[in-house]
Parts: sequence; structure tokens; C-alpha cells
Amino acid sequence: MRFIIRLNFVAIFIALPIVGQSAGFAQSLRQEAQKLGLQVGAAVDPARFSEPLYAETVANQFNMVEPENAMKWPATEPARGQFSFAAGDQVVEFAEAHQMKVRGHNLLWGISNPAWLTEGHFTPDQLRSIMKNHIITVVSHYRGKVFAWDVVNEAFDRDGRLKHTLWYDRPGIGLAGRGTAYLAQAFRWAHQADPNALLFYNDYAAEGLNAKSDAIYAMVKDFKRRHVPIDGVGLQMHLMDLNQIPTSVAANIARLAALGVQVHITEMDVALPVDASGKPLHRADLSRQAKIYGEMATLCAEQPGCTAFQTWGFTDKYSWIPHYTRGKKGDGLLFDSNYHPKPAYRAVLKAFKQAAKKHPTIIPQRLQIERHSSL
Ligand code: G3I
Repeated sequence: MRFIIRLNFVAIFIALPIVGQSAGFAQSLRQEAQKLGLQVGAAVDPARFSEPLYAETVANQFNMVEPENAMKWPATEPARGQFSFAAGDQVVEFAEAHQMKVRGHNLLWGISNPAWLTEGHFTPDQLRSIMKNHIITVVSHYRGKVFAWDVVNEAFDRDGRLKHTLWYDRPGIGLAGRGTAYLAQAFRWAHQADPNALLFYNDYAAEGLNAKSDAIYAMVKDFKRRHVPIDGVGLQMHLMDLNQIPTSVAANIARLAALGVQVHITEMDVALPVDASGKPLHRADLSRQAKIYGEMATLCAEQPGCTAFQTWGFTDKYSWIPHYTRGKKGDGLLFDSNYHPKPAYRAVLKAFKQAAKKHPTIIPQRLQIERHSSL
């Protein structure tokens, strides 16, 4: 029975139109990104793959996927020592069927952990062994299938201080008060489990130059000096206010690249104020949103140190923003709820096309950075 269900699942993927041939899409982001040696991705929910337009849009438009929730602790280790990979495996199977890369998200986070873990009253020694077992088991399971991992997610606060978390000092894994030592430990275990996976630190509100991005920069510099295996930094890029768009993003990417790591834009969305039905309150906001997407896509596409551009979801039908803002904001992605491309989509496509024209030799430069950062 399980075998039959699995065969049907694969058949759904195989039946999808191949890249660029969908009736709905004359062009695609992934075709343009390919000309730049760039990954263009979206966070996905495997439970939606059975929706034809969802699956078709992902397969046609992106060359990378990242599970929005399916590889987090609650999904992968719902009970202590009991691992569940079914949902994450669906993402890998989908990606393999459509020649896409998979970004893994995430191995360690101070929030969004299962209750058995947060309410377990574990000692530092127990936590250390739980953390090691989780990282080694998950990364080993996806060895050779997940090309890059967010090893640690959102460890710093806005002032650049380490957040107080289960892993750091509440009670921590025995490295409380020793700064980024617990992060270094996580990176080492991940590297041990898959020496070929690219290992990232991922955070929000650290896109431009500020106290948080300074702290991340200092950590990467220190890790590189001490040969802690870090390959990249994820800049999430959740832009929740049209009037507060980060500046100096290009400078931040450039300084990270100069340390020998690559940058991925990992979770971009641009939230708009919406009415009760989820439509933008001001139509002009769609153009402002498109301009911001275009600018960020340009600065990623034009810098060889930025090797992936990803959005957090892709259709406004499914996005974390309305739930998080209690319906006040939404409409943050490249496709509307009916999977029609928005002005923001066309702006990203145009940005990729223009960058490819302007930088005809960028592919080898990008490849060189990718090779260098994983040495
Ligand atoms: O799957 C359960 C469902 O069974 C249950 O009925 C329902 C009731 O609340 O919850 C469902 O799980 C929710 C899950 O999303 C799937 O929808 C969790 O409660 C909810 O906490 C979870 O939220 C996710 C959040 O991270 C926390 O993990 C969001 O979807 C996801 O978009 C968000 O993503 C984060 C990135 O990982 C890190 N950066 C910020 C970004 C946005 O917050």
C-alpha cells in the first residue's frame, strides 16, 4: 500500500510540464538565474505539491527549494530520539524530479522547538547529547541531497548580543557565557555529518550594516580564522514596512564575501498593508514593492558573492505574513493568490536579465566564490 502511494506521488511529479513549457509561463526566473550561475528559490510546503498550480509554478520558476517547516525540529524529531523524515523527503523527491537544489532549514533555533525539548528540564550534558544527535542524524539523512544548511538560525538580537536560549544559557549545552562557542559546536557537528554541505548562519534584520550584522561579521571572521566550518551567511530579508527598507545591503554582502563566505538571500518577502479581504490598501504599493524586489534582486545578481536569491513562499495564497500580522499585512510575494505573476515578479525577472547583460563573465566568478567558500 505504501509502495503504491509512493508511486502515485512520483507520477504526479513526472506528469508536470518540464521547465519553460508551461502554458502559463513564457519565461522563467530559473532560466534567467541560470545565465547568472545563481540559485533562485522559494520556501515550500510539501503538503501543497498535490495542488497542480502550486507544483507547476515551483517547478517552472525556481531551481532551488527550501522546506518552510518540514526540516525543523518539530517535524524531524517530534519525540526524543524518534526521527521523522517523510515531509522533508517529499521536498527532496520533488527537487530531484525537477533538477532543483534543496536548501535545508534549520538545525538549531532558540524558538519553534517541540514541547518535549523545551519543557524537558534537561541538564547541559543531556542537551549537548540531544543537540549532537539531532544535527548528526538529520544532516546524515540528507547527506548528498541537501546542498546547504542553515545550521543556526537567529541567534543574535538587534543589538548584536547573543539571545538567551535553550542552547546558549537556558541552561545551554555547557558553553553558557562563552559567546559563539555553542554555534561553533553546531557547525562542527554538521560538517562531521556531511563534509560537502555548505553551512550557513541565517538571520533577519541583518541585511544592511548595523549592530546585528556587525556581530555576525565578527563571528564569521573569527570562525574563518579558527577554521570553524562556515561557508555562508543567510540574509532573510523579511521587509515588513515599505518605509523601512535596509540600505547598505551591497556593502554588507561585499564585506562578507571578502571574508571568503558566500551570501544567500534566504527568505525575502515585502509585506503590504491590506484590507479585510487581503487586497493591498493602496494599489501604488504594488509598484513600490516591485521596485524593492527589483533592487534587491539586482544587487544579489550583480555580486558574485551572492549565490542564491530566495523568497519565503511564492504565492500570496500561502504566506506566514497575514497570520503573523493578524490580517493587517500581506501580499508580500511574487505571485498573487491565483498564481498570477505580480509586478514584483516582472521586476525580479528584469533584474536578472539586465544583470546577465551587464556582467557576461559573472558565472565563473560565482563558481570561484562557491569553490573558495567551501574549502
Ligand atoms: O502544522 C501545525 C498544525 O498541525 C496545527 O494545527 C497548527 C496550529 O497552530 O500549527 C501548525 O504548525 C504551524 C506551522 O507554522 C505550519 O503552519 C506552527 O504552529 C507555526 O508556528 C509555524 O510557523 C512557522 C514559523 O516559522 C515557526 O516555525 C511559519 O510557518 C514559518 O513561515 C516561519 O518561518 C520563519 C523561518 O523559519 C525563520 N525566519 C522567520 C520566518 C518567518 O517567521
